[in-house]
Parts: sequence; C-alpha cells; structure tokens
Amino acid sequence: MTPTEQATAAASGAAATDRFRQSGKTAAVQADQARVNELASALVKAANDIILEKKVTYPEFNALKAWLIKVGEDGEWPLFLDVWLEHSVEEVATEHRDGNKGSIEGPYYIPDSPSQQTGKGAPAKISQRPDEKGTRLLFQGQVRGTDGKALPNAKIELWHADEDGFYSQFAPNLPEWNLRGTFIADEEGHFAIDTIQPAPYQIPTDGACGQLIAAAGWHAWRPAHLHLKVSAPGHELLTAQLYFPGDEHNDDDIASAVKPELILDPQDASDGHGKEVNYDFVLDPVSEETPEHLRA
Ligand code: DHB
Ligand code: FE
Repeated sequence: MTPTEQATAAASGAAATDRFRQSGKTAAVQADQARVNELASALVKAANDIILEKKVTYPEFNALKAWLIKVGEDGEWPLFLDVWLEHSVEEVATEHRDGNKGSIEGPYYIPDSPSQQTGKGAPAKISQRPDEKGTRLLFQGQVRGTDGKALPNAKIELWHADEDGFYSQFAPNLPEWNLRGTFIADEEGHFAIDTIQPAPYQIPTDGACGQLIAAAGWHAWRPAHLHLKVSAPGHELLTAQLYFPGDEHNDDDIASAVKPELILDPQDASDGHGKEVNYDFVLDPVSEETPEHLRA
C-alpha cells in the first residue's frame, strides 16, 4: 500500500473476506441435510413473515436486492455478520461454561502473531511503532482453570486497534504486526503485556454497512476494546474482548458485544507511566462435549 492510500471499506472488507477464506473455517462446514433444511427454512420463513407483517413494497424489495449485491461487492459480508449476528452465535457457543464466557472474535484476528515469553513483573512489549500514539497500558493477570489452579505457560493472543482506531493488516501504512502479539505466561500462569489503550472503533462508513447505518439513523461505533484469545492445554479456547470504563458506547455497542464482566478497571501505573490493569482469566476444562473449534 502506498503512503497516501486511505483506509477504505472496500480495502478492509476485501482483506477481511480474504482472511476468512484462508482461515480454514469454511472447511469445517458439514452439509447435514436435515440441519440445513431446518435452518434455511426458518430463515426464509422469518424473512417472509417480515415482508407480510410490514407490508414490504416492490421498491423496498429492490432496495434490499441492490444493498445485498453491494455488501458482496464491498467485501463486507464478514463485517456485516460479525457486527450484527456473531454475538448470538457466541452466546450459544459458550453458555455451558463455568469460567469466562468471552465475546465475539470480529473480522480482524490474524493467527500466528510473533510470540514472546512473559511473566509476573516481566512485561513483554507488544509490537508497536517507536512513536506509537496513545496512553501506555500495562495489562497483566493470571490464567487459571475453573478448579482455581494456575495454568502454566498459558497462551494469550492480543490484538487491537491503534489510537486512530485502525487494525494492522486491514488499514494501510501500518507495520505488519502492529499491536498484535502472542504472549506465553510463566509457570504460575502470570502474564504482563506492555501496550497502549486503543481508541473507540468506527466500523467503515463508506461501504454497504455504512450506507445501512446512515439510512437507518444508527451510529457506527464500537467502544474501545482489546481482543484476546486465551488458551492452555486441556482447556477450552477463550475468545474475548475487554473494554474501558466510561466509554460512551459500552451501553450502545453496534456489535452488541459488551458484557459487564468484560469492563476493565485501569489505574495509574505504579511506575508513573500511563495506566495499568489486572485481569484474570478462568478457562473451562475440555470435555467430551467440547466442539472442535473450542479446542486450542
Ligand atoms: C468489527 C470490528 C471490530 O473491531 C470488532 O471487534 C467487531 C466487528 C467490524 O468491523 O465488523
Ligand atoms: Fe475490534
């Protein structure tokens, strides 16, 4: 990407679409005819019920067709699905848990970010530009099982937007792994990560999703958030987001992905630089019922 290139919906949408195609998640789809019939029939019926109940007109039907075509052209299907539907899928997937339930993954996860060892009092610095803007955040805690025992060498993957609300690999002019990293906790499951506080994030407004938001008089904001994947051998993979107190969109997230237990409580850092915050994760053990995608 050239230095003058702007972040656009089409560019980040295309990147998110490519990422999804490469993720291997599509290979996991099983075509069980009875289940496809059940779900597709319910979806078509729900749409027909809306048309009849709301007395949808031909111009409205054609506006929907044009819009659906544009969502595809802009590469915004991952964006649309992750913003408006993923939170319910996540709720179903994690309702059995005694430990942390987590939150949506969103469209901007990249696996295999650079890995570093970390531990209590030994913070690892996440990949960032020398002049990275934003308030420093020392993010630390412990990973335990639901039995209360520490999980040695737990793995924490962290990714988040920068001070301007942009994610590396989905917006131009950012180093490849900016504000993305994998952190291995110590023998007691302790981790400490040196990063910056992300800014609130506005989903792209210049594509089909932005067009819908403007037409409906909604807003495009997600509260500032950290994205995480936390795992340890024999335990279910936790996908989570963590939020910051006082963000005006915590109660009004376009992606409906905030839960009260996911709001952090940062304090002034004891070393005088920025903020620090403690957050502990509790992982459920893998059981016979654990689906493949929750096995780390
Ligand atoms: C979207 C972006 C995010 O950063 C996120 O966490 C969830 C959804 C989106 O643009 O769809
Ligand atoms: Fe995000």
